[in-house]
Amino acid sequence: MNAADESLLLGIDFGTSRTAIMSNRGLREVIRSVVGYPKDVIGLKLLGAPLLVGDEAYEKRSFLDLRYPLEDGVLREYSQRDVDVAHDLMRYVVGRAGGGEGLCAVIGVPARASNANKSALLRIAQDVLHTAMVVSEPFMVAYGQGKLMNALVIDIGAGTVDLCAMKGRMPAPEDQVTLTKAGHFIDECLQEALLERYPHVQMNLNVACAIKEAHAFVGPGQGPVEVALRAGGKPVTLEVGEQIRTACESVLPDIIENVKRLVEEFPPEDQAVVLQNIILAGGGSQIRGLADFITAELVDYGAVRVTAVADPIYDGCAGALKLAQELPPKYWSKLGHTTMET
Ligand SMILES: Nc1ncnc2c1ncn2[C@@H]1O[C@H](COP(=O)(O)OP(=O)(O)OP(=O)(O)O)[C@@H](O)[C@H]1O
Ligand SMILES: [Mg+2]
Repeated sequence: MNAADESLLLGIDFGTSRTAIMSNRGLREVIRSVVGYPKDVIGLKLLGAPLLVGDEAYEKRSFLDLRYPLEDGVLREYSQRDVDVAHDLMRYVVGRAGGGEGLCAVIGVPARASNANKSALLRIAQDVLHTAMVVSEPFMVAYGQGKLMNALVIDIGAGTVDLCAMKGRMPAPEDQVTLTKAGHFIDECLQEALLERYPHVQMNLNVACAIKEAHAFVGPGQGPVEVALRAGGKPVTLEVGEQIRTACESVLPDIIENVKRLVEEFPPEDQAVVLQNIILAGGGSQIRGLADFITAELVDYGAVRVTAVADPIYDGCAGALKLAQELPPKYWSKLGHTTMET
């Protein structure tokens, strides 16, 4: 039995909108990345607890102060309060795995998170874990898919789009890009476009996000999209296809520009293979027509194959867990990535 067999190993995808966790003992869970605190003593009495985490907190939001520890994919660090919230989320997430001695976790962070931000996350992890390593989210996806070289991962999350060129080594800073126009940005664009077209419709970001998650698409060839909304308190049915398409396409020019740049930076003899190995991941990979849209934009580059991962919720943390299992924690510090041992 080696060290990896004895430890409880975790893969954690610490995301802006949701955190996914898997363990080598079969845990597989996704938690909304939010912590709710009672607003006053009445709330505390109703709740019977000092805080709630995840969907339960979101559902009881009317009498809670909701805090999201991550913003644009990285830990909020404006105040000690932000750090405490992240701490509460991390403690809860790791607690789902049963806790105990010798817990080791590989944690995904945005591709270009600053060293200071990675260190802040590791300090938070320090209280609840024995050993932790942070790796970039798209690298985790690539590792999970066994695509370690001549591949390009595009992870479209809520706060960030992360791109990573896989060159058979741990990705260097120049192999990765983080863009902050992602899922939340699409929601904002959609809200704005709907209010412009239908000024009387009752709209907020939650409604815009729900419409997007049900109908998101890019490119031509989709029929009309009718949704049930409310205007002045009364139900209305509105056609929103064009607004959805425009909002979803708003994030694509930056993504495509960076895909082209990362492809060009591979050795010329490898570029044809890379173009056959473009992988879409993250919640945004479910936008219909996305692979075809990107393929069409790369028409001058020869044969291109863009595929989406099978499970956009768990594929990132499955890759993190695979890395934790295949590389015993005692070697983590040698990877040249930020690690911490207590
Ligand atoms: N079917 C869908 N079509 C389009 N977008 C979707 C769909 N389902 C979920 N999303 C969006 O995907 C985003 C969440 O993706 P994901 O869970 O990968 O993000 P995250 O990991 O929490 O964020 P980040 O990686 O930026 O920290 C949200 O913006 C969500 O609205
Ligand atoms: Mg993510």
